[in-house]
Amino acid sequence: MINEKCEILKHEELSAGYRLLVVNAPGMAPILVPGQFVHVKVPALEASALRRPFSVFDAEDGKVSILYKTVGRGTAALNAANVGDTLEVIGPLGHGFPVECGGAAFLVGGGFGVAPLYFLAKRMIAGGHKGRIALFAGGRTKEDLLAIDDFKALGVEVHLATNDGSAGEKGLVTVPLDEQIVKHLERGENFEFFACGPDPMLKAIAIKAVGLGKKGWISMDRHMICGVGACYACIQKTVRGNSRCCIEGPVFAAEDLVWEEAK
Ligand SMILES: Cc1cc2nc3c(=O)[nH]c(=O)nc-3n(C[C@H](O)[C@H](O)[C@H](O)COP(=O)(O)OP(=O)(O)OC[C@H]3O[C@@H](n4cnc5c(N)ncnc54)[C@H](O)[C@@H]3O)c2cc1C
Ligand code: FES
Repeated sequence: MINEKCEILKHEELSAGYRLLVVNAPGMAPILVPGQFVHVKVPALEASALRRPFSVFDAEDGKVSILYKTVGRGTAALNAANVGDTLEVIGPLGHGFPVECGGAAFLVGGGFGVAPLYFLAKRMIAGGHKGRIALFAGGRTKEDLLAIDDFKALGVEVHLATNDGSAGEKGLVTVPLDEQIVKHLERGENFEFFACGPDPMLKAIAIKAVGLGKKGWISMDRHMICGVGACYACIQKTVRGNSRCCIEGPVFAAEDLVWEEAK
């Protein structure tokens, strides 16, 4: 883990509410693994709440990219950072996804959850992955479907779903996913799940993976404060008890996760 002072090389809007930030991070970029995250010090925030965690969208040629959604004070303040400014970034943090996969890789992402899946797809391809790599991206509207052309440029098969039907199938991302699961089961082809997105989606994927006896790798999004294991703000229940998402996660094996019953 290093704390790097990173010059902003690019900072642009992708779609309503979503931005791409690229920083120069020659120390961190070569050692990042897909699914790990970085903790970005947001300029203009007071000392009590300085950093925000983001997945790595890409790490190549000494540069680190993130895709982020503006949801509150920290991300709104980050919007104001300009090309040429310096950001303090800590990383790599946490445990990422395995890059080896036995069979087809089903990457399931909701909204900005596609960010670590792009980095994963890239590394799988670079590692010589033999099977299919299919992205299942979901969102409320087409504005929430990010980096789709980037996945296509890698040769990843893309399936889309939106709640309002503005792109892809109308409904949840599990609609196109279930179609592919059935096809693979009929043909006796193995597959694994790699998922990142909102909790209800992650729970559905984890339960599916366990129920089907398939491997599932689930990236949990928990509110974080320290990002390095000290504050216990980011607890996720697992079969081993309480785990810290920033240290033991954010990626967990599906069978290790314990889900709270809906109240
Ligand atoms: C491991 C990890 C990876 C992440 N990767 C990305 C990414 O690639 N792109 C991206 O846009 N965001 C990502 N996030 C979420 C991001 O960290 C939060 O959106 C951000 O910290 C919110 O900061 P804020 O000050 O703008 O919002 P706040 O003012 O702190 O909160 C605004 C609203 O968002 C909610 N919120 C805050 N943090 C989270 C959170 N972690 N999960 C769910 N709701 C939250 C709050 O409850 C509140 O309703 C990731 C989070 C984690 C833990
Ligand atoms: S954020 Fe502090 S322990 Fe995980």
